[in-house]
Amino acid sequence: MYDVYGIIGDPVSHSLSPVMHNLAFRELQIKAVYGAFRVKKEELLQAIEAIKVLGIRGVSVTIPHKESIISYLDEVSEVCRVIGAVNTVVRREGKLVGYNTDWIGVMRAFEARGVDLKGKRVVIIGAGGASRAVIYACKKAGVSKIVLYNRTWERSRKLAQEFALEAKPWEALDQAEGDIIIQTTSVGLKSKESPISSETLKNFSIAMDIVYLPLKTKFLEDAEKRGLLTIDGLQMLLYQGVEQFKLFTGLEAPVKLLEEALYDEVKKIEKELKLG
Ligand code: ATR
Repeated sequence: MYDVYGIIGDPVSHSLSPVMHNLAFRELQIKAVYGAFRVKKEELLQAIEAIKVLGIRGVSVTIPHKESIISYLDEVSEVCRVIGAVNTVVRREGKLVGYNTDWIGVMRAFEARGVDLKGKRVVIIGAGGASRAVIYACKKAGVSKIVLYNRTWERSRKLAQEFALEAKPWEALDQAEGDIIIQTTSVGLKSKESPISSETLKNFSIAMDIVYLPLKTKFLEDAEKRGLLTIDGLQMLLYQGVEQFKLFTGLEAPVKLLEEALYDEVKKIEKELKLG
């Protein structure tokens, strides 16, 4: 008997999670398979019932269900409530339990590059769902200061209030400064755009992007040219997946192997989409 896992979301056809989890199952000789299940926004409740009835052992959750799934699960971890999102569901004694590993992905991506977040001054661009996981990770890691910039002021003001941080107007982004800058908006996804001028990036020493298509976004390309240490979006994806695998199986995933497979896969997608 093979255990079944999968990802639920819409779209999921280009998801890299099946690549990661299936490879890890194979490498560790675990009898399990991981599929991609397209579940439309209005089909979430049915999908949850299906997970229960079919005995699916665990799922990754992606757009558009990360927030709305919270109210349908039997239990969710405290972190999910703070971040407001679930990206992992595991069946435990018949109950569906929600977790969030996105923030751990952010933290471990920095660790893997030898960056200690403790005491650092961080600037975050964006105030959406991804930004919340990044903020949580930064706080947990003990950064000394977070300044938030978002196109829509009301959204950053609210987020800043909720997490007790500073928000500055979008128009002031050119004067941003600090140790680390983290790009959490969708700007640069499948395009050659960056939300910040290349000139401003010289006020920082480390840049992270959560966008991974293309792998080298305009933001990271500019940062690299300015001599910053850069961390691409695939690192966060890799480490949130590694943590998710641990929740699914209780085992450590073969990180290096998964990393290589992820980079290969993204390069293929870049070629397909002519983004390289
Ligand atoms: P996610 O969950 O991926 O963070 P989201 O909640 O839709 O997605 O948030 C998207 C983020 O990208 C927001 O911060 C959004 O800014 P607004 O709050 O002003 O919408 C930001 N964003 C998207 N397109 C943008 C653009 N063209 N310029 C600047 N910011 C943009």
